[in-house]
Amino acid sequence: MKSTAVAHANLAFVKYWGKVDSKLNIPTNGSISMNLSNAQTVTTVQFDEELEEDIIQEGEKQILNDSKFAKRVVKQLDIVRELAKTRSRAFISTENTFAKGVGIASSASGMAALTLAAVSALSLDLSEKDLSILARLGSGSACRSIPDGFVEWISLGKHEESYARSIANDDHWDLVDITVVVTQSEKAISSSEGHLLATNSPFFSTRLNNMTARLAKVKSAILDRDFLTFGQEIEKEAIELHAVAMTSSFTQKNTWISGIYYWNEETIKLIHKVQYWRSEGLPVYFTLDAGPTMHLITLSKYLPEVLSAIETFEQSQTIHVKWEKIINYPAKGARIID
Ligand code: PMV
Repeated sequence: MKSTAVAHANLAFVKYWGKVDSKLNIPTNGSISMNLSNAQTVTTVQFDEELEEDIIQEGEKQILNDSKFAKRVVKQLDIVRELAKTRSRAFISTENTFAKGVGIASSASGMAALTLAAVSALSLDLSEKDLSILARLGSGSACRSIPDGFVEWISLGKHEESYARSIANDDHWDLVDITVVVTQSEKAISSSEGHLLATNSPFFSTRLNNMTARLAKVKSAILDRDFLTFGQEIEKEAIELHAVAMTSSFTQKNTWISGIYYWNEETIKLIHKVQYWRSEGLPVYFTLDAGPTMHLITLSKYLPEVLSAIETFEQSQTIHVKWEKIINYPAKGARIID
């Protein structure tokens, strides 16, 4: 009745932006990601017939049951309980190796670890595909944290056909993600809101029309370890997603907002720098999720050079900055560790 699971957060190279079904987290397009070695969640779930309600602990802190976080956890456990035909409540203890608000979504690793630990504690025998589908119900991108290494989320619009599978193991390619945390402040518009607003952009349909070709190109660049094609395609992809966000206009509290700007000044400075470093011969590209955090992508042999370029840039600023950097290699999928 007790199991501990670990799962890594993932970084999408071809991104999920827009949903055809918000309840079931079914995306409008497929996506491709990599599990991140230094961003993991470890979760223990212990079912206990004596408990009257689920008890959730995050690190040392007990979480109030009416908090948003607790509600998401209980909702996900209810789905697993229904599958196992049990009403037993559980003690849940969860911990992240990375801070919240650094631009790496903890909901993906969190939901993947929770789902696997609960399924295993209740001795449910599920395939990787079914686990991925189940994790997706908790948080869309969590389905990509179930399989190993480099992952594709296939989505054909139906619940049973929207799941992730591995396209290459974690040792397939020595790619590195340098997560550069340019601010710790919270973003104003969550990714859940961004998904809903995406269709407001006149460029949303153009993005979708190009998606099948993009997914195929990025997938084969990964399989062929073709860094040039890969880098160019993922950088274009990130900018196109943000172009859609920036042109998704909406009205909030009676105020018209022209679009969602997830970037800040530091993000833009770094974008210019990455372009400059490339012109100087350094093979480095960037991608960004729904926030200002930059993900610099390179091959491990160039890591020292990229880190030193970032440091020189930090020191050259008139106002002194020292960004937090998290170095991530490809990682395994969700697994039981007890
Ligand atoms: O899983 P969500 O709702 O946090 O959405 C993720 C959105 C992006 O990070 C921008 C893209 C992606 O595919 O992870």
